Amino acid sequence: IFNLESWRKMSRIKTDIVTDIRLDSDKIIELKNNNEQFLIAKGRRKTYHILTYGCQMNEHDSEKISGMLTSIGYVETEDEKKADLVIFNTCLIRENAELKVFGKLGEVKGLKRKNPNLLVAVCGCMMQREEIREKVQKKFSFVDIIFGTNTIHELPMLIYNVEINKRKSVDIVDNTELIYEDMPKMRKFKHKALVNITYGCNNFCTYCVVPYVRGREKSRDPEDIIQEIKLLAEDGCKEVTLLGQNVNSYGNNLESEFTFAQLLYAVNEIEGIERIRFMTSHPKDLTEDLIKAIKECDKVCNHLHLPVQAGSNDVLKRMNRKYTKEHYLNLVEKLKEAVPDIAVTTDIIVGFPGETEEDFSETIEMVEKVEYDSAFTFLYSVREGTKAALMEDQVPDEVKHERFNRLLDVLYPIVLKKNQDCIGKVFPVLVETAEDDELTGRTEHFKLVHFKGSKDLIGEIVNVKVTDVKTFHMKGEIKKYGDTPLLKG
Ligand code: SAH
Ligand code: SF4
Ligand code: F3S
Repeated sequence: IFNLESWRKMSRIKTDIVTDIRLDSDKIIELKNNNEQFLIAKGRRKTYHILTYGCQMNEHDSEKISGMLTSIGYVETEDEKKADLVIFNTCLIRENAELKVFGKLGEVKGLKRKNPNLLVAVCGCMMQREEIREKVQKKFSFVDIIFGTNTIHELPMLIYNVEINKRKSVDIVDNTELIYEDMPKMRKFKHKALVNITYGCNNFCTYCVVPYVRGREKSRDPEDIIQEIKLLAEDGCKEVTLLGQNVNSYGNNLESEFTFAQLLYAVNEIEGIERIRFMTSHPKDLTEDLIKAIKECDKVCNHLHLPVQAGSNDVLKRMNRKYTKEHYLNLVEKLKEAVPDIAVTTDIIVGFPGETEEDFSETIEMVEKVEYDSAFTFLYSVREGTKAALMEDQVPDEVKHERFNRLLDVLYPIVLKKNQDCIGKVFPVLVETAEDDELTGRTEHFKLVHFKGSKDLIGEIVNVKVTDVKTFHMKGEIKKYGDTPLLKG
């Protein structure tokens, strides 16, 4: 149910509650009533389809969009051709993310021609950049609604504006100190949930657009986070992933001192939650306290995603990562000492401006030393507006590709070996999806496992013995289920 009163808008600097003049409950009720009329007249509810690009931030924003649309009487459809409203939640982290969106917008143009009543909305990180917004408005003039990452809560008003006032609507806020709490959310999974802990980023890694599109870093109040997770647990959720561009700097702008490590201890106490994950850790802010928290909190999964980006100090410096390879290796050593079975995964960029053969060989060395359980590897992509875009010595595409392939040649055998180490061992696995009698889930180390079982087990944690492995997944068989086993021995 749409409840305007529950949407608190909070200022980070002071904790005054600010009411938003643009949200008008009478208009939203009118829109909702219209949607009920539509149901009576057509015998079906209005439908929406969301295309989500990019990271878990965007995935979670899409859950909020779904929640809002549901609260005003829409239902989701898997088939975009049958939708009354198509929403693009966009990403521009690399050029190909952007190209995908433009390609798909071209396809939707045809749908709009066939069905003029179709509403098309574009939101997400791409819309936070003026020049891209203008390109969309010009090249895809059929788009009805544009909103940004700071104006998701305005969507019902934007729909109102199009449907009732017959006006195209754009609503963007560049940067904001405000955080919306208690927005309705429609979770994609019952047993696992994404929970924002910080928004934005202050790090300005020189290759990255995120600080320009998501604004400055803001932390949610711990009470709000804990309250949300308690409600999730009451609703049957077993696994939470705490989200932030740099979770390790959580709390920096809070009035009272509260660190990420403290937050982990607090979440660990919540009854019903069995697994805690978090994304992403920045090596420069990974504290001893956090390592201790990972070790001591039984629900915190023994998995750390710790993006290294590059192995050469020279490149790291020009990336503005603010750590050295020695610091990184030292962190990994301390982690493995504290939590011997921890799985470490990473992000790597190949072909950053000025990367020499020597620099690249240090990235390879890093992969060999750390022995990552898995890694996301990216070709450096020039992003307009970032410092690296202006750097000289851009690496030619063929060199980038050639290095990229060499990196995979080193990485994949290591990943496979790490998986082979699991053969014969039994792991608790949270069952996530089922296709016929083939179940899929993840171990606490974030490894994907396929095994046979009944789909009633979705959302349960079962013990699975690993029998066979590939680079990207493992196969296994259920050993025993019923009781929920402990995550850590
Ligand atoms: N805040 C997180 C994730 C940011 S985006 C972090 O700091 O780790 C996810 C990954 O995309 C980054 O870790 C980086 O490896 C990659 N990435 C970001 N900008 C990129 C660019 N311009 N070209 C290629 N890869 C990029
Ligand atoms: Fe981008 Fe760096 Fe911020 Fe991550 S920490 S979002 S890579 S600027
Ligand atoms: Fe993309 Fe925005 Fe995430 S640019 S990676 S969706 S924060």
